Amino acid sequence: MRPGAANRGEHLAQIGHLAASLAHEIKNPLAGISGAIQVIRDAMKPTEPHRPILDEILRQIGRLDNTVKDLLVFARPKPPRFRKCNVQDVISGALPVWRQQPEIQRVRFEYVNSRALPTIAADENQIEQLLTNLLLNAAQASKAGGLVRLTAAPQPDGIRLSIEDRGHGMDQEVRRRAVEPFFTTKAAHGLGLSICKKIVETHGGALAIKSVVGEGTEVIVDLPRRQPSMEGEVG
Ligand SMILES: Nc1ncnc2c1ncn2[C@@H]1O[C@H](COP(=O)(O)OP(=O)(O)O)[C@@H](O)[C@H]1O
Ligand SMILES: [Mg+2]
Repeated sequence: MRPGAANRGEHLAQIGHLAASLAHEIKNPLAGISGAIQVIRDAMKPTEPHRPILDEILRQIGRLDNTVKDLLVFARPKPPRFRKCNVQDVISGALPVWRQQPEIQRVRFEYVNSRALPTIAADENQIEQLLTNLLLNAAQASKAGGLVRLTAAPQPDGIRLSIEDRGHGMDQEVRRRAVEPFFTTKAAHGLGLSICKKIVETHGGALAIKSVVGEGTEVIVDLPRRQPSMEGEVG
């Protein structure tokens, strides 16, 4: 071990601990604020002039919530809780939330679901977080009105998810470093792709990035149908 490495490890663990407790402290009040604002908004007439302001507050809370979730997962990674997971249902459930996000509202977002997907063994919260991160990246890289397309397709032994954009793309150096924790070319936390990679790996899958500068990016995620620990349980 390099001199000081143990100290650094301890230091990182402390930072992780602090980040996790901060994220927790922020998450609960945020949920309370969001719930209260929804109650006020829903009690308003659709024509009430202040309604759009409340919608905007809710969108920004959604954004904060994503950041806090990312920080929590990074600081205190949880092993996935594998269950029978219908990814189509996960996506249908998340679509309204995604469509609320300011980044997604800037672009033309398409969901292509050609054929029925097999059920896979997965942690549905983690699958939603994975897709949220990839869609936000795609939208953030796109020009206003640019196409962002999510495709879900069955594979011989699992499913393939593809998140495509026609945004600015990545050069080789960015593509190589994109999954490093804290690597960012935006004023952001740079944890998104490292979390995605971790989620995909703990699901026994693979994540590949294809990108051409000026043309766009496609992130392809392959997820297997079964997990060794759940042999025979996923129908
Ligand atoms: N769809 C994409 N198109 C272009 N660049 C991307 C895309 N997704 C990720 N990147 C690059 O990878 C970097 C790291 O992404 P990520 O880990 O999600 O962190 P963040 O989004 O916080 O910067 C981004 O800052 C960006 O440079
Ligand atoms: Mg990101």
